[in-house]
Amino acid sequence: MDNQTIFPSLIHGGDYNPDQWLDRPDILEADIRMMKKAKINCVTLCVFAWSTLEPAEGEFNLQWLHDVVDRLYENGIYVIMATPSGARPRWLAEKYPEVLRINAQRQRMLFGERHNHCYTSPAYREKVRIIDKKLAEEFASHPAVILWHISNEFSGECHCPLCRDAFRSWLKNRYGSIDRLNHAWWTAFWSHTYNDFSQIESPSPLGDSSLHGLSLDWKRFVTAQTTDFLVAEKKALQEGGARQPVTTNLMRDFTGLDYSVLAKEIDIVSWDNYPFWHSGSGSTGSDIEIAYETALQHDLMRSYRHRPFLMMESSPSSMNWPPISRLRRPGTVPLTSMQAIAHGSDSVQYFQIRQSRGSSEKFHGAVIDHYGGEDTRVFAEVCKTGEDLAALSCLAGTQVDAKAAVIADMESRWAMEAAAGPRNKGLHYREAVLKSYRALREAGLNVDVIDSGAPLDSYKIVAAPMLYMFKEGVPERLRSFTEGGGILIMTCWSGIVDENDLCYEGATPHALTNVLGLRFEEIDGLPDGVTNRFVRAKDADINGKAAGEDDLNLPDSFSCDTLCELVRLEGAKALMVYGDDFYAGHPALTVNRFGKGAAYYVCADAEQALYTSLYGEIAARAGIAPVLKDLPENTCAASRTDGQYEYIFAGHYAPDCVQIKIPQGSEVLCGNKDGILEGYSYIILRRISS
Ligand code: GAL
Repeated sequence: MDNQTIFPSLIHGGDYNPDQWLDRPDILEADIRMMKKAKINCVTLCVFAWSTLEPAEGEFNLQWLHDVVDRLYENGIYVIMATPSGARPRWLAEKYPEVLRINAQRQRMLFGERHNHCYTSPAYREKVRIIDKKLAEEFASHPAVILWHISNEFSGECHCPLCRDAFRSWLKNRYGSIDRLNHAWWTAFWSHTYNDFSQIESPSPLGDSSLHGLSLDWKRFVTAQTTDFLVAEKKALQEGGARQPVTTNLMRDFTGLDYSVLAKEIDIVSWDNYPFWHSGSGSTGSDIEIAYETALQHDLMRSYRHRPFLMMESSPSSMNWPPISRLRRPGTVPLTSMQAIAHGSDSVQYFQIRQSRGSSEKFHGAVIDHYGGEDTRVFAEVCKTGEDLAALSCLAGTQVDAKAAVIADMESRWAMEAAAGPRNKGLHYREAVLKSYRALREAGLNVDVIDSGAPLDSYKIVAAPMLYMFKEGVPERLRSFTEGGGILIMTCWSGIVDENDLCYEGATPHALTNVLGLRFEEIDGLPDGVTNRFVRAKDADINGKAAGEDDLNLPDSFSCDTLCELVRLEGAKALMVYGDDFYAGHPALTVNRFGKGAAYYVCADAEQALYTSLYGEIAARAGIAPVLKDLPENTCAASRTDGQYEYIFAGHYAPDCVQIKIPQGSEVLCGNKDGILEGYSYIILRRISS
């Protein structure tokens, strides 16, 4: 799909389950009236409606859906049609028990819950094909339907005989011979050598769970099999005549699948955004932290396809599944909805439009609650969001222009976190990525979050924190990026293993030691609570102390914890050294000029302030203009562009009132004309793109 938008304006909507209210035609009418009031222009139907659509095998009941879709469309409300494969009907599990998953302990599950079917089962695939095709035949040509939503939040794994066989075939295809697999998995260790592919079992606490190559390939297989299932659903829709784009909803911080693989098979990335707002101490907690974490997730989702994405779900009020259900503070629904738009979403969608009366989500927030009236605080927040979105339709399809990127690589993370050592109590990869990301955002830059296979040509700054695994081509790309004038920032525990999780022989970070001007020697895992320090390098400390253009204007000291790497300088200059322990005076932060660019190396898990200062200096020297300058505390900015105009969003994530300086040449599209940001509010500016 070449065009960047599926809808002429921003989508405002959410999951809607009229299948729970078929005996209540008045509910549909009330809902439509309230949706129109809230400027809801699109709803997602059928996510879990299979047992209503096909109450018995081969018996279809779709008239109610036609009626609902028609009625919505007459009222200007479009539809995202879901395939119902996220939860199967009871009759299906009864007749075809193979659809029920087997867990790693080799126990078959009972029917129940959702998201728990076998992705390999031919019976499941066939029943899904039939219902998907049927839905497409009936609705592909309906003008209301703008997008197909395949299944729901793909996740989990199955260890049934069918899946284990499929895994063996996948391995055969990957390695060709058992000898090559034995080498890649280093199976001579503990006498685990395989004689034949048929001997391979999926990882299990009853068998192998510490054979790293096996565990890594199993995760890759689960991603491949899930993706294959998704592709089969896409084909079934096409067989039924569907021509609309497809999506599937991804999840926050989800490590069960490598989304960079799955995302290639969908036309539009969408995701479900459920941050724990106000979950810190005090009445609001540290919402700015959550704002940065959420911004990272939005940017990650956008970067999978480098085009606008959809925020498919979010809660307009509290969720009911976290340990404690906090209410969203006034103003936060519009604010955090606009945050999604700022980072490239073309939609604000909720779970769900109408609260269900029974079962496990009856207390989950919804646009329309059990009371059912318009005079609720939550409904007012949704209406305000709807009004602002309607006024911003020019944003649909606009892009985010990022000159900086952070590499976040799932396979590398899997390998690093499965390995034993150097710190089995937590390596903090997620936090390492967030620290670099946040620092770049604090420096005022738009940021892409990319996997290690992504091209780097369009960036001026690339951060590759803890990039433990170098897949094929990675060091070469990082090298030529730096050589060509890019600024590379790497952090400890990088370039240690290859794509098969085998440690590189020789100096590491593999193939990049002359780019970084150093090599890894040892790594110290620090117990919880133990810290070291980064202090400014003095002449006496080290021969290679940075001077001149390399001497950044950094504060005198930062703390660090969890991991301290000891490196040997081979041309790099030390900007900071360790302050304590037997390695006091050893390099802790280094820089090396390489080609037309420079490579920085942060040797330890440093506090956020180090990254904020370092990236601030780097961004200023790289001459990349910040989206907005001099932002008040607890405020962050992001921008989108249509090539002609730049749309700048500033959001304030605290209850106090602040003011931003409105740059010359900008007009205020939304918010206070003097740049005043009340507690939990935002402002949107427009200026000619530079
Ligand atoms: C999502 C899911 C929805 C609903 C929601 C509640 O993960 O896709 O169906 O359960 O959570 O927060």
